[in-house]
Amino acid sequence: MNFHTRKWVKPEDLNPNGTLFGGSLLRWIDEEAAIYAICQLDNQRVVTKFISEVNFVSSARQGDIIELGMTATDFGRTSITLRCEVRNKVTRKSILTIERMVFVNMDAEGKPAPHGRDRIRYAEEAYERYRQTVHTAVDATAAAAAKEAEREALNEDEAVH
Ligand SMILES: CC(C)(COP(=O)(O)OP(=O)(O)OC[C@H]1O[C@@H](n2cnc3c(N)ncnc32)[C@H](O)[C@@H]1OP(=O)(O)O)[C@@H](O)C(=O)NCCC(=O)NCCS
Repeated sequence: MNFHTRKWVKPEDLNPNGTLFGGSLLRWIDEEAAIYAICQLDNQRVVTKFISEVNFVSSARQGDIIELGMTATDFGRTSITLRCEVRNKVTRKSILTIERMVFVNMDAEGKPAPHGRDRIRYAEEAYERYRQTVHTAVDATAAAAAKEAEREALNEDEAVH
């Protein structure tokens, strides 16, 4: 499981008990999980479908630094299932666990769409894909420019004759 995002527990995140408010934590988790799903499925249009039992294992206090961890546990046809854990960054003490968070991959019409993924995509793989896309686009632009220059040169030749 990768712990990417850190949060610093501030006064506005507390409940009247003086510990981290569950609603703040859930908002952070939902956003982090959505970003994870977006990166895995390479699609900005994902929605939260299902969240299993949330286990608030232990509390966090003002000033604590916590980290949010995600991993994909299942790739369906249109869905992806994640497991989440939040822990104290220093002590590694578990603060929250969610066994299953399901996100659905949507198309432009707002309907579930197949995502075609079946395993976790790592950062290097995503970067390589991006690099190839950029190179292909640059190559296509260069080829179009060369063709245009060739056409112009031909026109100039024709004008001289
Ligand atoms: C997401 C939504 C379009 C799915 O609609 P649906 O009729 O359930 O669609 P489907 O039956 O095609 O299911 C889509 C996927 O979700 C999965 N799914 C549906 N209900 C599920 C549930 N209760 N638990 C887990 N997965 C579920 C299905 O298995 C399917 O995954 P798969 O293709 O990988 O097998 C619809 O429920 C919706 O719009 N929900 C609101 C989403 C939202 O606004 N989220 C923000 C939270 S406030």
